[in-house]
Amino acid sequence: MLISLFCGSTGLQSANRATLEAAEVALRSLNHTSLHCTSVNEIPIFEPNVDLPVAVVTLSEQFEESDAVLFAIPEYGGGAAGWAKNALDWMVGTGSLYGKVVGITSSGTTGGANSIEQIARTLTWQGAIVVATFGISTPKTKSDPSGRLTDSTTLQQIESLVERLVKSANGTDETRLRFRAETLSPLQIHPDDRRPPPS
Ligand SMILES: Cc1cc2nc3c(=O)[nH]c(=O)nc-3n(C[C@H](O)[C@H](O)[C@H](O)COP(=O)(O)O)c2cc1C
Repeated sequence: MLISLFCGSTGLQSANRATLEAAEVALRSLNHTSLHCTSVNEIPIFEPNVDLPVAVVTLSEQFEESDAVLFAIPEYGGGAAGWAKNALDWMVGTGSLYGKVVGITSSGTTGGANSIEQIARTLTWQGAIVVATFGISTPKTKSDPSGRLTDSTTLQQIESLVERLVKSANGTDETRLRFRAETLSPLQIHPDDRRPPPS
């Protein structure tokens, strides 16, 4: 399977990118392929009524071609990083996340619960099937000085997240919908709170 990894951080040494790098290792050990998506730094601010910028088209194609997507989105000021939401707003016009199996992580001081909730809501609205979430608090205490995640419990939790994502993408509709209900219910997001399918 091909799993795309979208990092919502603009930072050079990023805790969220470190999560995706650990996920990449876990995917490789399960014989799956991963792809680091176009950098969020390349995505311009959303503008209606313009041709889609090349970076946006590339990102939407990366989503479309993958069997599942894992998002790692930092939290700033009690919400999802604005530039990451901006990148997702472009995807409304492409429909590339409709029906896509997705997982969401956030790594930051308090564990990014607000970021996860907001990203789960907008992805659900876009028709994505959110099947797993995982927040990592105080990531510096779980990493080596280079920022690589080293905490064994956290690495195991990332492996579990990846397994659940792959199981959902590989599995039956029943599995996907059960995982989605388990994921969205605590966030008080209704799975049917979404736009109509793209025509
Ligand atoms: C201005 C600012 C606001 C922040 N707000 C939050 C927040 O609301 N919740 C949280 O968990 N972390 C917050 N953080 C911590 C960041 O989420 C944390 O530094 C995270 O590691 C950033 O992601 P990155 O390392 O992937 O770039 C904030 C950091 C800054 C600089």
